[in-house]
Amino acid sequence: MTATGPAQTPSHVIDLTGRVAVVTGASSGLGRRFAVVLARAGATVLAAARREDRLKELAAEQDGILPHRCDVTDETDCMALIARAEELGGVDILVNNAGWAESLPALEQSVASFRKTLDIDVTALFQLSVLAARSMSQRGAGAIVNIASILGLVASAPVTQSAYGAAKGAVVSLTRHLAAEWARSGVRVNAIAPGWFPSELTADMLDDDSARRWIGRNTPMGRPGRPEELDGALLLLASPGGAYITGQTLAVDGGWTAR
Ligand SMILES: NC(=O)c1ccc[n+]([C@@H]2O[C@H](COP(=O)([O-])OP(=O)(O)OC[C@H]3O[C@@H](n4cnc5c(N)ncnc54)[C@H](OP(=O)(O)O)[C@@H]3O)[C@@H](O)[C@H]2O)c1
Repeated sequence: MTATGPAQTPSHVIDLTGRVAVVTGASSGLGRRFAVVLARAGATVLAAARREDRLKELAAEQDGILPHRCDVTDETDCMALIARAEELGGVDILVNNAGWAESLPALEQSVASFRKTLDIDVTALFQLSVLAARSMSQRGAGAIVNIASILGLVASAPVTQSAYGAAKGAVVSLTRHLAAEWARSGVRVNAIAPGWFPSELTADMLDDDSARRWIGRNTPMGRPGRPEELDGALLLLASPGGAYITGQTLAVDGGWTAR
């Protein structure tokens, strides 16, 4: 073994040419961006969500993206999604991005609403990860990138999102457990914990002046994130550039969790 290893250009390290990627929740927000970034890095991307019209628009805008309708809480839909990836050669990259949150004080939240959050944000992610890992481990390689949240690492107060925080905390833990369990089969599992980024999910917060000022005051970098500021973390964890990284959660949060 040498200290330098084989020479590679920086762009080669994140080249995804010939890879098949699945991105859930690609009909809006961060998932839409993730699908475009992976496609521009050379991957064929199955863009999955329930709003198929949005996915078709996305596929028309960016080469390399194929729309696929999927409700991640529906087991049959998840199996069909991974089966479609098999037809394309097998899933190399899975980005578990689909997510949902409800802002409610815990004292006012029903158990049904708590369960719904866990269903979308954790159980569906677990199911898709298992389906993908079966296929990846047969080929001895694969990268799963889970989209967690800073609210899985620290409390959300004064924002009232305890169910969402519990779900994202579970995503962080599941990322470690699955990574350790699958490490020897070549399947890497990592997570990104975004801070505050503009999307449908955060529109109420980021469109509100006082909430935006609160985010600015509490973020060491003084502002919310820009969608493109997640590109580097995604490409690192999804590509050969992250070949020896597994079980990690990378906060991309302008310093929010460093305080
Ligand atoms: N924006 C932020 O500041 C931020 C911060 C931390 C973490 N995150 C995480 O980032 C991820 C993306 O969120 P976003 O901010 O981009 O919000 P968003 O714009 O609301 O996107 C959520 C996506 O999830 C999909 N989705 C929801 N339920 C689904 C289901 N049952 N089946 C399939 N797809 C489903 C939606 O698609 P359809 O409705 O078309 O199905 C949509 O594409 C989430 O996991 C979120 O928790 C976001």
